[in-house]
Amino acid sequence: MIGTLCGLPTLAHQAIIIRMFPHEGCAVTIIRDDQLDIISYNPQQTARLGMRLGALLEVGDVICLSGDMGAGKTMFASGVGKGWGAEPPLTSPTYNLVHVHRRKKDTVKLFHLDCYRLSDVLEAETIGLDDILNGATISIFEWPEHIKEALPTERLWIDIRIVETTRRSIVLEGAGKRYQTLIGLFRAAALGSKDKSLKP
Ligand SMILES: Nc1ncnc2c1ncn2[C@@H]1O[C@H](COP(=O)(O)OP(=O)(O)OP(=O)(O)O)[C@@H](O)[C@H]1O
Ligand SMILES: [Mg+2]
Repeated sequence: MIGTLCGLPTLAHQAIIIRMFPHEGCAVTIIRDDQLDIISYNPQQTARLGMRLGALLEVGDVICLSGDMGAGKTMFASGVGKGWGAEPPLTSPTYNLVHVHRRKKDTVKLFHLDCYRLSDVLEAETIGLDDILNGATISIFEWPEHIKEALPTERLWIDIRIVETTRRSIVLEGAGKRYQTLIGLFRAAALGSKDKSLKP
């Protein structure tokens, strides 16, 4: 819907709202329903945001963590694992390429993959990508851009960028209905929750 503000055209659905996540201490820019733009000021905040997301994950969810070396993909993923209840805790899968985790309350598996050393879709097959994506699983990909063509088109794409020494830009974008819903749930959890149990 197009309205006017002081004579200037405004697009209500693209309203840019900048506010703080009260419980996380991060700045967030809300641009669209399917996108969230957050600034994290330290590693702990990044992990805590991951924990918020991890607590919301369901079977079949695909999370792509893109960004430069040392941006904080594993830091965020470790938070996701903690929020989900993963055992053992998530660490970098750089050497093994794939780590599998479970949790006490069900039989769902969480796969954490590092695709840095994979260069194409054929190589993605060597790590059993089909089985990973089609089982009762949740999957988290670091360096997903390396096997982008092999990944489902519906996914939560999270881009982490280094802004300064300890400042990171974290942009979440949901493709598909499930991930738009997930972004809404995540926004509500991070903006509104009084649950302090997720503190690392
Ligand atoms: N706000 C922040 N969020 C996340 N990490 C941060 C932040 N500020 C500093 N850091 C530091 O940046 C590093 C991020 O490392 P991490 O292993 O998570 O990166 P990565 O993106 O997984 O790298 P790689 O591509 O090598 O796997 C850590 O040393 C962490 O302490
Ligand atoms: Mg990493």
